[in-house]
Amino acid sequence: MCDMGHDHGREGFGYLVDTPEIRALIDEVRRVSETIRADEDRVTALRPAFAKLLAADGWLPDACAQPDEKSRMGGGIAQYALYRAEDGSLCLFSLVVPAGAATPVHDHLAWGLVGIYRGRQDETVYRRLDDGADPARADLEVAKRQDLGRGDFYALLPPTDDIHYVKTISDTPSISIHLLANDTACVWRHRFDPASGAVTPFRSGYANAPCPPDAERLDAIS
Ligand SMILES: [Fe+2]
Repeated sequence: MCDMGHDHGREGFGYLVDTPEIRALIDEVRRVSETIRADEDRVTALRPAFAKLLAADGWLPDACAQPDEKSRMGGGIAQYALYRAEDGSLCLFSLVVPAGAATPVHDHLAWGLVGIYRGRQDETVYRRLDDGADPARADLEVAKRQDLGRGDFYALLPPTDDIHYVKTISDTPSISIHLLANDTACVWRHRFDPASGAVTPFRSGYANAPCPPDAERLDAIS
């Protein structure tokens, strides 16, 4: 189990991996969130602290860097919670994508920063052409593609550039680190099929922490 923390509070929340490097980033997020109102400005202010975490070695346990064959995203793709705010306002997680595997096309619904820790990823970002009035349909076109290696990172500022997928293009699994202003794996997001236009409710789940009971109920209904 990828669960090295000692300061959990409610089960599955708080520091699931408790290291000085992770605490330094979360402390900086709290400082920035208290002093800066605009999401775009917060993301800009957090870039140095996020870059520092990506550049540091030794803080990510091997248990949080392994594929997960039971993943809801398929392809052995694993999402490990490292830190989760109990109020659902922030999370830090690792995403492990085996060589050659790709995530579904998905959205995030919160601002954040995403960067590469190991391996390489090809990211394809979509632009939405419809007005979003039909919850089951989306008309998407590719807006940009980028090849990302260790230390490269990008900002998420929905709705701009919020729909994408990533594919590992290294011959080893890629590991990306995600800092987002929600409880990403437990909120209901969307999975997109650009070819057909279909939009499906989607909740990825963490490999090492349960989602809150209300979300579990919704999962059972759907
Ligand atoms: Fe993503």
